[in-house]
Amino acid sequence: MCGRGSSRWVPGHRRAFADRKLLYPDPGATAGLVLRRPSPIGIFCAHRLFLFRPSPSHPAMTDRSQALALDARDPLAPLRQQFTLPDGVVYLDGNSLGALPVATAARVQEAVTAEWGTGLIRSWNTAGWVTLAPRIADKIARLIGAGAAETLVGDSTSANLYKVLASAMALVRARGDAQRRVIVSERTNFPTDLYIAQSLCQQHGFTLQLVEPDEIAAHLNQRLAVLMLTHVNYRTGRMHDMAGITRDAHACGALTIWDLAHSAGAVPVDLNGADADFAVGCGYKYLNGGPGAPAFLWVHRRHLDRMEHEHLWQPLSGWFGHAAPFAFTPDYRPAAGIARFACGTPPVLSLTALDCGLDTLLSAEALGGMAALRAKSLQLTALFMSLVESRCAGHGLSLVTPREEGARGSQVSFARAEGGYAIMQALIARGVIGDFRAPDILRFGFTPLYTRFVDAWDAMEQLRQVLESGEWRESRFHQKAAVT
Ligand SMILES: Cc1ncc(COP(=O)(O)O)c(C=O)c1O
Repeated sequence: MCGRGSSRWVPGHRRAFADRKLLYPDPGATAGLVLRRPSPIGIFCAHRLFLFRPSPSHPAMTDRSQALALDARDPLAPLRQQFTLPDGVVYLDGNSLGALPVATAARVQEAVTAEWGTGLIRSWNTAGWVTLAPRIADKIARLIGAGAAETLVGDSTSANLYKVLASAMALVRARGDAQRRVIVSERTNFPTDLYIAQSLCQQHGFTLQLVEPDEIAAHLNQRLAVLMLTHVNYRTGRMHDMAGITRDAHACGALTIWDLAHSAGAVPVDLNGADADFAVGCGYKYLNGGPGAPAFLWVHRRHLDRMEHEHLWQPLSGWFGHAAPFAFTPDYRPAAGIARFACGTPPVLSLTALDCGLDTLLSAEALGGMAALRAKSLQLTALFMSLVESRCAGHGLSLVTPREEGARGSQVSFARAEGGYAIMQALIARGVIGDFRAPDILRFGFTPLYTRFVDAWDAMEQLRQVLESGEWRESRFHQKAAVT
């Protein structure tokens, strides 16, 4: 499917990273509007990266037809057919709410009419409702480098963070090290993570310290109990080195919690490989589970074992996390393993939709899985950065997403001192859907399962027109909706 043409083959995306470093000798820089060097654009073919490197014979993209040509040669392009996307819409918000899979409506309809309507309560057993959550958890495990029975699906990310942070704090307290009473997180971490940590600190006499990303290392010390980070920052799209930071946190005796809300299904994640301690993540973003989809949590086996041996509970000790929920005994006895992290009755209809969402990702396994999706995502984000910087210059946008591939998730964010919200509203009115994060971030998510190269071009072109026409100044684009 992929021809070599006159472009250059490289043996894998590792080589491509090395090549890219040559192009960007100042990795991680957040730049102004002048693109210092041209960006390579490529498409992934099986396990090889097909790089379309700008050069005198292959200049940087100047025409929409070049984006269409990349789509025509993209081996992942057929994956888009699994989604119901409205005509005339460029959807760049899968990092907030994943698109609707084609299979979901019929499957949820079946769960409602046949399983609920006809099967009634028998369906807990006959339709497998009672085993649905663990089956879905095992699918998520394939995307995050988890072993069997280490992941739990259910509740919200916030509730799951509450469970794992409280458990991590309990594990630290149980070691008897009274000095360790600090939780460190990023000042720009997603607010719910900080709110949950604030509540637990109040309850247990811990202190929450908020730092900038480059200050983390300086806070790894004997007072640190838990380092709680979001792997890919929701505002900037900056990605942490999970394995390196975890290793350093462990070296100082602390535990780590990783929020994978913007990583699971977006970038390859290897929790066991990184030797992480705990993780949580969302079902409604890159996992395409639908609005308010159940979230997930993951706990390293060594902590599951310790909790069992030291009789430590997670704090939301509901009946679905009991060893024998249908024995209806008055005393709580936690289930073995990860099941102890369950709380109440699983939301079967939402789980059914999440199951369909996950299948869209797992269907990519035959085409190279997360490695292939990651390669395409990097190319989409590189293309969009380069197009906006070269064609929307002079309009006050500044890139806040790292250029370095290893430090970037699957989104591109620009800060603008004034009018960010209205500009995004004007773009949405033109059919380009991204979002705005106060006070100044325009955020564009690239979901390689369904985003095309031509979407990057079209989004840039609409953005250029919105900025050049100044239409965003119209009062209708300044009216704040409840959800931005
Ligand atoms: C990093 C991060 N954590 C958590 C959440 C939300 O958690 P919840 O599922 O509890 O709404 C979000 C939502 O955007 C997020 O970006």
